[in-house]
Amino acid sequence: MNGKRTSETLTRMAQFMTPNDANFLGHVFGGSILAMVDLTASATAQKFSGRMCVTASFDRVDFLHPVEVGNYVEMEGSVTYVGRTSLEVTIDVYATDLTKGDKRHTNTARVTMVALDDDGQPTEVPRLICETREDRIAFIEGLARRHLRQGRAAQMADLHKRLLAASDEELDLCASDPEAALKHIGG
Ligand SMILES: CC(C)(COP(=O)(O)OP(=O)(O)OC[C@H]1O[C@@H](n2cnc3c(N)ncnc32)[C@H](O)[C@@H]1OP(=O)(O)O)[C@@H](O)C(=O)NCCC(=O)NCCS
Repeated sequence: MNGKRTSETLTRMAQFMTPNDANFLGHVFGGSILAMVDLTASATAQKFSGRMCVTASFDRVDFLHPVEVGNYVEMEGSVTYVGRTSLEVTIDVYATDLTKGDKRHTNTARVTMVALDDDGQPTEVPRLICETREDRIAFIEGLARRHLRQGRAAQMADLHKRLLAASDEELDLCASDPEAALKHIGG
């Protein structure tokens, strides 16, 4: 299986934000940014793997600053971690008011993409050749996020089972003290 260097994975997309992207407050709707993030993740993953790729999951995305209608939004995607058939794309989002030239970093998003073969089944992706110390740090963090994601999913499934099995009296505690209810039922 061939490897690809981290620096080869950089993929950029950019777009002006128009009134179609606005929410009711006149700022840009978070979903417009997420749609661009998803497209950038797809482009980055397909360029890296040479395969069609689907989005398996989005990690938590925090919006650090509002993006305004008229801003020029740039996305920079790069592959930060690879598994066997999946890969993590990290996307940095920047918004610029071109009349003022103030470019702001507004988000960092992490998306897991899965490469598919011609039958639509997950297929192996190239190895990622980390070129710098930062690349190696990012790779190990990507692996840690994968473990955390899997651990969180298992923990939530376990909590859901416990909540379904809880008595009405135990669940009633939720109204007065939800933290205590979680501690008591969640264990
Ligand atoms: C993503 C998908 C192809 C995975 O299929 P699957 O049958 O679970 O495949 P596998 O169990 O063999 O997993 C394949 C890889 O995906 C990863 N994966 C599966 N579900 C995942 C999830 N929810 N989050 C992160 N990674 C996931 C696995 O860890 C594995 O990675 P690895 O090969 O690097 O170890 C399948 O769930 C799917 O098609 N989902 C819908 C995707 C889609 O339509 N996205 C757009 C939504 S509009």
